[in-house]
Amino acid sequence: MPLPKAELHLHIEGTLEPELAFALAARGGISLPYADADELRRAYSFTDLQSFLDLYYALMAVLRTEDDFADLADAYLERAAEQGVRHAEIFFDPQAHTARGVDIGTVIEGLSRALDAGRERHGISTQLIMCFLRDESAQSALDTFEAAKPYLSRISAVGLDSAEVGNPPSKFREVYERAAAEGLRRVAHAGEEGPPAYIWEALDVLGVERVDHGLRSLEDPELVARLVRDRIPLTLCPLSNVRLRCIDRIEDHPLRAMLDAGLLATVNSDDPAYFGGYAGDNYDAVRAALGLDDETLRGLARNSFEAAFLDGDEALRAR
Ligand code: ADE
Ligand code: ZN
Repeated sequence: MPLPKAELHLHIEGTLEPELAFALAARGGISLPYADADELRRAYSFTDLQSFLDLYYALMAVLRTEDDFADLADAYLERAAEQGVRHAEIFFDPQAHTARGVDIGTVIEGLSRALDAGRERHGISTQLIMCFLRDESAQSALDTFEAAKPYLSRISAVGLDSAEVGNPPSKFREVYERAAAEGLRRVAHAGEEGPPAYIWEALDVLGVERVDHGLRSLEDPELVARLVRDRIPLTLCPLSNVRLRCIDRIEDHPLRAMLDAGLLATVNSDDPAYFGGYAGDNYDAVRAALGLDDETLRGLARNSFEAAFLDGDEALRAR
């Protein structure tokens, strides 16, 4: 029985397995520049975040209809359930779809259909987090937020992702203010490739309650003190960090040092179809590489429920 856990850093587009990409391409009459799923999988060799993002956005061409998004989310939930995920807070990237002419409603309705069925079908509760692409303009984020207004009841939080360096959180102050005014929770990717200063900005300018990655937090002791004091969770993604060369080897991951420093660290999968593992696989990887004992693993799972956007009763039910 895998440890029950919450997954808090998961891009639904990053769960597109090569086999599903080919199936959706066939259904949509789209041709992919790879002979088959094996050849596509062999292309999953990245030198940094941008090299991954290039393939990640290109492959989204197969996602066009509500059914495509529903099938994507259903396939993820099936894999997640096998790995002990009981609750998932799921990112999606509307601009990556609207830029291709796919209506934001198609994306949200398709995902919601599968997620609503997910509680019964897979025993997983879910929430949606709408991310803005930080390498697009602040105006594009504002336009996206306005386009999402009819669907806000289906969205629990806003997030910030894509190419980090050169696109600091402060660029998105206004859209985060609007999101807060609508009662949405706030998270942002920060400190994946970018410096600790971006984590400070995410906290102080955007008002985030949770930092996605925060991998570079330990470089700044004052930042660590702040994160510990305010019990700000970090959603770490160990296999992703190795595949995107943020760290050389999983043995170098700062997770243990972060726990020792008193940080509320959680373990998640990011883009599991691309990085070689779902949530449980990430737990297994850090257990083996960092020599974590069962109590530490249970603590990580407890952290995941504490860091989730669940109220007390919901958290008890999810566990
Ligand atoms: N979008 C999907 N995965 C991402 C990651 N690891 N960092 C930033 N943006 C992303
Ligand atoms: Zn991410």
